[in-house]
Amino acid sequence: MRIILCGFGVVGRSLAKLFESRSDDLYARYGLKPRVVGVFDSRGAASDPSGLDLERLVASKARRGTVGAYGGGDAAARAASDPPRGPQMIDELDADVLVETTSSSYVDAEPGMSHITAAMRRGMHVVSVNKGPLALALPSLTELAAYNRVLLRFSGTVGGGTPVLDYARNGLRGERITSFAGILNGTTNYILTGMADGGQSYAAALRDARGRGYVEADESLDLDGVDAAAKLVILANWAMGMKVTLPDVSRTGIRGVSARDIRRAASKKCAVKLVASCESSGRDLAVGPRDVALDDPVCVNGTLNAVSFTSEHSGTQTIIGKGAGGTETASSILRDLIDIRKEMSREQ
Ligand code: HSE
Repeated sequence: MRIILCGFGVVGRSLAKLFESRSDDLYARYGLKPRVVGVFDSRGAASDPSGLDLERLVASKARRGTVGAYGGGDAAARAASDPPRGPQMIDELDADVLVETTSSSYVDAEPGMSHITAAMRRGMHVVSVNKGPLALALPSLTELAAYNRVLLRFSGTVGGGTPVLDYARNGLRGERITSFAGILNGTTNYILTGMADGGQSYAAALRDARGRGYVEADESLDLDGVDAAAKLVILANWAMGMKVTLPDVSRTGIRGVSARDIRRAASKKCAVKLVASCESSGRDLAVGPRDVALDDPVCVNGTLNAVSFTSEHSGTQTIIGKGAGGTETASSILRDLIDIRKEMSREQ
């Protein structure tokens, strides 16, 4: 499977390492032989139609801060080391799958949107862990994928390595999910847990989360509920067949949560959580601080994520797990690639 990798940050590098460490197993169990033919980051690019040496790629990124330092004997790699040529490799290289890992923008969804649409138009399947294009345009991206007869997969966008999307679509196949609600942002959950269990003020809990590197560079994405709303939109499209985008979500973040709110909730045997919820009947999509009963399985602490799905005949089930992390998210990309590999071999 020939792969173009957009972005080589924590997730991209974790994926390269997983490809290396799991290569025998991936081939033996799933017939998957990933070959990264091109990769680019914001400063450079490298390509080799016969497959890049992943160890060397990771080393060049560590040494020089860009995959453009990969260099080496391959002429294409040298030619592509000019930064503007990076994304152009999507039009120039032959590949089966584009893996999009650049950072999420909720303003214009770029650069991920251009990468994804260019790849689909060229007949490549797409795996995205970039939430921006999906949150702003998932209904039209789904149509574009169908029109071009390619697969668009994005397991890692909700729940990181926890298979939330898989559970909703495959674990509950044949069912009709009527509603779901959950904690989809680990950073705000960490802050609210610090306020409840550690008795910290909002400011102290936020400082703690920052110190641990949990908070996004653009803090508003976590604190104002944008990241949770993006995940809610992705899940509503995927699990409920809704055609919704970010502006459809009514959203409040956690900046207004006070120590008094936390104490008031505790007196009712509840905790304040940033809950993302979706009701199919009213097509209501909302993110906001809510009181959640301490004995509700969705009431998880720390950076954990949890989602409860309620369906017509199976009642309510909750899936819980880590919602972020480089290796975890990279493992979700592997899951998507295995699915795509299965589909590709069915078509042959
Ligand atoms: N900022 C996100 C979180 C990272 O805290 O959950 C994972 O999407």
